[in-house]
Amino acid sequence: MANADGSGLSAAEIVELSKRYTLFDWAAQSKVAPLPVASAEGVYFYDPDGKRYLDFNSQLMSVNIGHGDKRVADAVAAQLRQVAYVNSAAMTTEVRARLGQKLAQIFPGDIEKSFFTLGGAEANENAVRIARAVTGRHKILARYRSYHGATAGVITLTGDPRRWANEPGIPGVVHVLDFHHGPMRAEDSAETALAALEETIELEGPGTIAAFIVEPVTGTNGILVPPDGYLQGVRALCDRYGILLIADEVMSGFGRTGTWFAVDHWGVVPDLITCAKGLTSSYVPLGAVGMRPHVARHFDEHVFPGGLTYNSHPVGLAAALATIAVYEEDGLIERARTLGEQMLVHHEELAARHPSVGAHRSIGLFGCLELVRNRATGEPMAGFNSSSPEMAALGAFMLDNGVYVNLHWYQVMTNPPLCITEEQLAEGFEILDRGLEITDRAVAG
Ligand SMILES: Cc1ncc(COP(=O)(O)O)c(C=O)c1O
Repeated sequence: MANADGSGLSAAEIVELSKRYTLFDWAAQSKVAPLPVASAEGVYFYDPDGKRYLDFNSQLMSVNIGHGDKRVADAVAAQLRQVAYVNSAAMTTEVRARLGQKLAQIFPGDIEKSFFTLGGAEANENAVRIARAVTGRHKILARYRSYHGATAGVITLTGDPRRWANEPGIPGVVHVLDFHHGPMRAEDSAETALAALEETIELEGPGTIAAFIVEPVTGTNGILVPPDGYLQGVRALCDRYGILLIADEVMSGFGRTGTWFAVDHWGVVPDLITCAKGLTSSYVPLGAVGMRPHVARHFDEHVFPGGLTYNSHPVGLAAALATIAVYEEDGLIERARTLGEQMLVHHEELAARHPSVGAHRSIGLFGCLELVRNRATGEPMAGFNSSSPEMAALGAFMLDNGVYVNLHWYQVMTNPPLCITEEQLAEGFEILDRGLEITDRAVAG
């Protein structure tokens, strides 16, 4: 059993005590089977028995620079020793000054001022608060195919089934359909999606809508890359009706798609941008809301009606500053773009070889395969909001063979750290190639 100081637990003890004393996310606890992790470096992590796993999902699509980077660990340790925390309303620090300035340089367009939070949900909560304060309107438009976090307000914005058990949620949230592509439906055009959006705006009353929040490339709901013209059209509609555009770049930001932010692919500048995850590569919790001057200006004379004990936590900010330096020093943004081309080739090869691969999508190192039982009908390998024995067997095969992939319903996510090499990428796809024989056996005919 455990030593008095808590060290020296076996793998089984770590799992047992974790399950007995802590709650796991989004699950009936009796069904949870967590993998104990003892250490991690680069694109690999290790269990307490020393078994190595290739991290093909950057944990929660967040450890973008890879694990165990000493430059970040050293910066965090140095900040902890120098000053770990100050009252964020009354005091400030050098690291706050430096990170604020740095983000203004890399954020799209003229986004200049940041408010720091502890993660993505809090960033979105504050983006909504800011949009409501600045416009004096209260409704927020969000898309059905979206995830914006799990706190009270933003779980209401979330369109996907994680919202259902949390309803009724906050008032004033309206969901819209956007576009979808994949084996289940023909691809919708940007025009169709924009027409539906404009009709919704007209029917809701433009003067009641504060903001439209979008994941510029949708993450957990299926790596949905918008058709060209969609985000530009959304920007134009928001301008026409005085609605603020919030880009939720919590998952798509910080190089994941091969540019600093996903909106950069389409040259769209949102009024507010939210980020977390890749901001520190998850070494330390941190989120941020960035805003354009016309938004920030409102709070020059009006009180900002928000605050957090951990706004601008120096340790989180030090991690972010060091992480951004790693992206720059190691050229990871360009690398995601180049390796993204390799990933596309792997996706295409798998689609050519495996009848169960019904569709694949990717941009940079942000990708997924959609698995089907029947290519002609597009019947998915698992139902909406569920799994299937075949998907479970594929997940088990991958873990047995030392690759961690995130399986979401009928989708296989392929989101490795941006520091992955071509060889390591090929290693992961070679094992997936073998694993897909399991799902191929379930294909009709
Ligand atoms: C697009 C998006 N927004 C918001 C969040 C919520 O972030 P957090 O879990 O840090 O609160 C997530 C988390 O997965 C996300 O993917």
